[in-house]
Amino acid sequence: MAPAPAGYTPRHISEQILAVRTAIEGERKQVTVLFCDMVRSSDLATQLGPEEFHLVVDRFFQVALAEVHRYEGTINQFLGDGFMALFGAPIAHEDHARRAVLAALGIAERSEVRIRIGINSGLVVVGAIGDDLRMDYTAFGDTTVLAARLQAVAAPGAVLISQRTAGLVRGYFQLEEITPVEVKERTVCPLRVTGLGTRTAALAAGDELSPFTGRDRELAELHRVLDIAVDGEGQVVGLAGDPGLGKSRLALEFRRLAEPRAAVLEGRCLSYGTGIAYLPLFELVRNACGIAAGDAPELVSSKIELKVKALELDVSLAHYLRHAFGLPTGDPSLAGLDPQAIRKRTFDALRQLLVAEAIRRPLVVLIEDLHWIDQTSQDFLAELADELPSVPVMLLVTYRPGYAPPWIGRSYACQLALRPLSPAASETIVASILASGDQGTAAAIAERGEGNPFFLEELARASRDQTARPPDITVPETVQQVLAARIDRLSTDQKAALQVAAVLGREFSLDLAEEIWDGEGPLEARLQELKALEFLRERHGPAERTFVFKHALTREVGYDCMLQSRRRYLHARAGTALEYSKASQRFEHCELLAYHYSRSTDPARAIPYLAIAGDRAKDRYANGEAIAAYGQAIDLIERLDDRRPDPYGAICENLGIVQVRLSRYDKAIDAYQKGLTVVSDAFQRSHLHGLCCEAEEGAHRYPRALAQCDLAEQALGEVPDEPGPQWLSSWFDIQDKRMGVLYWLNDTEGYGQLIDRVRPFVEAHGSAQQRMSFFLSLFGWSVRRDRYVITDETLEFARAAYAIAQADPSSSRWTGFNYAFALLWHGDLDEATAMLQESLGEAERCGDTALRSRSLTYLMVAERKRGDVDAVREAIGSVIAQAREASLPEYEAMAIANRAWVAWRSGEHAKAGTDAQDALDIWKGLPARYFYDWMALWPLLAMALAAGRVEEAIEHTRGMLPPPQQLLQEPVQTLVESAIHTWDAGQPAEAGELLQSAIRAAGDLGYL
Ligand SMILES: Nc1ncnc2c1ncn2[C@@H]1O[C@H](COP(=O)(O)OP(=O)(O)OP(=O)(O)O)[C@@H](O)[C@H]1O
Ligand SMILES: [Mg+2]
Repeated sequence: MAPAPAGYTPRHISEQILAVRTAIEGERKQVTVLFCDMVRSSDLATQLGPEEFHLVVDRFFQVALAEVHRYEGTINQFLGDGFMALFGAPIAHEDHARRAVLAALGIAERSEVRIRIGINSGLVVVGAIGDDLRMDYTAFGDTTVLAARLQAVAAPGAVLISQRTAGLVRGYFQLEEITPVEVKERTVCPLRVTGLGTRTAALAAGDELSPFTGRDRELAELHRVLDIAVDGEGQVVGLAGDPGLGKSRLALEFRRLAEPRAAVLEGRCLSYGTGIAYLPLFELVRNACGIAAGDAPELVSSKIELKVKALELDVSLAHYLRHAFGLPTGDPSLAGLDPQAIRKRTFDALRQLLVAEAIRRPLVVLIEDLHWIDQTSQDFLAELADELPSVPVMLLVTYRPGYAPPWIGRSYACQLALRPLSPAASETIVASILASGDQGTAAAIAERGEGNPFFLEELARASRDQTARPPDITVPETVQQVLAARIDRLSTDQKAALQVAAVLGREFSLDLAEEIWDGEGPLEARLQELKALEFLRERHGPAERTFVFKHALTREVGYDCMLQSRRRYLHARAGTALEYSKASQRFEHCELLAYHYSRSTDPARAIPYLAIAGDRAKDRYANGEAIAAYGQAIDLIERLDDRRPDPYGAICENLGIVQVRLSRYDKAIDAYQKGLTVVSDAFQRSHLHGLCCEAEEGAHRYPRALAQCDLAEQALGEVPDEPGPQWLSSWFDIQDKRMGVLYWLNDTEGYGQLIDRVRPFVEAHGSAQQRMSFFLSLFGWSVRRDRYVITDETLEFARAAYAIAQADPSSSRWTGFNYAFALLWHGDLDEATAMLQESLGEAERCGDTALRSRSLTYLMVAERKRGDVDAVREAIGSVIAQAREASLPEYEAMAIANRAWVAWRSGEHAKAGTDAQDALDIWKGLPARYFYDWMALWPLLAMALAAGRVEEAIEHTRGMLPPPQQLLQEPVQTLVESAIHTWDAGQPAEAGELLQSAIRAAGDLGYL
């Protein structure tokens, strides 16, 4: 039976784990898994004999466990002559992968038997943790399988890591590619770790860094302090800020600028170094003495001595420094000294070394990441700080919130707390990483990163590389592990409070949080603690007290780490609490309920709230939100397999309506079709087919639109003997839609017949609304029949429809436009413009993009008819933009045709030619033939004729004649027709002259 972990886990780690055990159970963690095994132990056993072998194995485990624990890993399982260790669980570490590889290298180096090690990183769910620290866990995907497999295929003595782990430790180690291996029918390419790399910190001078931005004020302040220090008055500056806020980067940039004026010595604390005395100071000494990582002990020794001599210090100082480094001291008398005395003299030696350096040349001592400092180094820095005022040293240290150097209160010390970067600086960083210039994405990332450059960089990279992540994890792994490590250092209750809060959202009300709080003791006290630790901020509103997560990403990580079942449970509690809470009057109540219930153990309860939230968004023309809410409701219903006419059918219908607003016709039709699968009521089915018809019409698919009208009519069935009002009105709706489609198909005959069929109905039963629609149909039909020549009678139809709509403003927004259109071609330009302005106002008011596009387009046409070149030129841009927004290419073409006219009038003939041709091409590509080709043809005709190319001019003229092209006003129509007859009769000169007259007349009538 393998020993229980409690037996071999160091006290400080086991205490830490047991203290937060309940908060950890069930959590999802990013971890690195290490499998280690002795090579061919059975052979060794026979060779050595059982007793000796036992000793060897014992020593191996001692060494291996010591290395694992040194980097705060936990042994999770013993497996024969090997074991499995986890780094990053149960307690999260931001650098779990690096720790695992360091431990592996340590084992490989120190173990007397040959080992094989395999390492992989990924997600696990932490299970129950026993009093003996035994931890159950479930791995996601192949996290452990791959690590075990890598260990199995490793050559004796080798440490293999997966690509995933390699990605997390790149630079810190030397890696070598090896032959790919098969794991579960998949080829993976492991890497072999061959030693330490050159990187020692997350941020290094040689890195490819994003452009430095937004820290001018802080840099200036550091320079001001440096000035004082260089003058001989030592100074201390603490750079404080959240992980990733840019402390190291600021220090790096400052260092570059300071180097001409001062020497810089750097040291850093390490996340696993809290228990290693002198750790950051060693680095200072190494840097001061020029000691390299691979230097042999003798060389280190002599470099120390050389330095001490060079600085003309007492040689005995070198003994203490060597002693601190664990090197032979060269002075046997040291062995007899009391450790306390040694420590004192070591401090002396370090201090004198630094002071002597500073006296030769002003010195900046930079120590990074003080929040991980060991006690000895902290004590030393306190002593050094005492000495500073009289030496030219600037002590610059960095740390995260939660730590404050004990000596920061001195008069020559100051703290510079970094603030989040400005939105502009944030966007600079994001833009430098995103290759494409997608403004929207950049802005969204800049916002989510909240001015934290590390978050910004990682979010931008994740977006750029589309890094694959487990489905419900939204935060990049790198960010996740930093934040999770911070959260894991909270007490059990603090963490439970943070998680309850995370379920409620970035901002949450204290009342609601208290209602769902199921932890020990009062929640508010915990929230206040989290506030003091700078996880939360409090907002004092007039009504209720709310707390806000300082970083949305912290909330996300807190949330992501929780087990699904726990989240669901808390969401359900939140939903229930909200349903009965006094906050129910709040506007976003339904949205909140939908949010919580959809994520709860009982998601069905979210459906009615999602439907309401969708309807409300739809009414506010918040189309994106409406689509999201309806879409979620539909997904939920489908997942629960509970499709019913109400609410499923109704939600599908509403979703389709919103999609049509956004010109997403196929999506709309999909939604309506889903509705049709559950709706059985004849009228409702007919109605849904009618909506499908509208969507098909929007997509210019007229035959399919007519087919939908047929289906709608079939749904209504035979004409009843005594048709009731509902039947009649449904029937009218279908015919009304059909007439709209026939208009586009230019089927004036079918249109006329249908008008005759509908007329008796309208005369007998028509409501005001239906009469109005019928007038519009009459109008459309006469327009088509007369080929866009507006007779007095046609104008009267449009006016009548408009008059009815005026009496009932809710009826139709389109009557004004139609009336304006009629006025325009009737020749009443001023009245037309006034009506178009009114219609534009109406479109803006309702956010009707299609109406807006139409109104703007015809305002432009009215200007052309007036011959106002400047006004047309000015209108073109917005006409094109609106046409695109409303997906109306025919209007974009109209703008381009008019641009051709503007160019022609301005003497830019080449441009006029291309634009005119482009417009014609767009119109010809439309599913229904468009009818204003003259807009593009007149400039072409005029240019051809002016250049003496009569034949070409005739060809352009021909283009204006066939139906459904608009008939031109007399005498232009007759002149162009005669020109063609004359040409066809073989009289080119006369034809040319007729065209000249046509052009003059066209100019007078506003065509040219
Ligand atoms: N002002 C800045 N302009 C551009 N990039 C920046 C800026 N500040 C920081 N960065 C970048 O953001 C990342 C994180 O910065 P940095 O390592 O300095 O954070 P930190 O505060 O030291 O975090 P930690 O507490 O984890 O050490 C780095 O890649 C760095 O280059
Ligand atoms: Mg840093």
